[in-house]
Amino acid sequence: MITAEPTAERTATQTMPRRTPTRMPRPAQLQRLVLTGFMGSGKTTVGRLLAERLGWAFTDLDTEIERRCGLTVPQIFAQLGEPHFRRQESAALASVLGHPRTVIALGGGAPEDLGNRLLLEQTPATAVVYLAAPFVTLLDRCQKQTDATERPVLADLPQAQQRFETRQRIYQRIAAHTLETSSMSPEQTVEALLHQLFPKPA
Ligand code: S3P
Repeated sequence: MITAEPTAERTATQTMPRRTPTRMPRPAQLQRLVLTGFMGSGKTTVGRLLAERLGWAFTDLDTEIERRCGLTVPQIFAQLGEPHFRRQESAALASVLGHPRTVIALGGGAPEDLGNRLLLEQTPATAVVYLAAPFVTLLDRCQKQTDATERPVLADLPQAQQRFETRQRIYQRIAAHTLETSSMSPEQTVEALLHQLFPKPA
């Protein structure tokens, strides 16, 4: 279990000194690990396992949005539209970033919004981790996840690929750590991540 000094939490509207996106808080000060990456990158599965290993809480941003709206993500897209979903996503993100000792799995599109990126950058004691894989691998994983909720963004594949190309650079830019996960199971990804985040002193 990782112990951390208590830090002053903040609300989403407070301004904080800007830090460079890739700066990694000292391990002992970490309060939030945020997993980013495209659909199928394993954010939810890895996040849950990682939280268990750390003895932290786990929050899936899509689940939080569904809880707040009382609708599933596909229902929000179909009935209220993507812009509404994105507004809910930003509100949910601002809220969950107030929780200490939490692993957060973002939805794949959350970092596209500048406000969300600033929030991630400016929330103290928070590190973003990018779970990377090629588009074909991610698509294959999504198609095999028969138990996963429908993903509205995958309805238009050429547009999904376009979103992937645009987001890749964004994910990389906001992440303190990037892990290439194509050849790793979720358990191996968690091991690699713990190794990177909390290296044992030589
Ligand atoms: C989206 C990804 C989904 C969900 C929504 C939109 C996207 O989350 O937020 O369907 O724009 O990539 P996952 O990445 O967890 O599947």
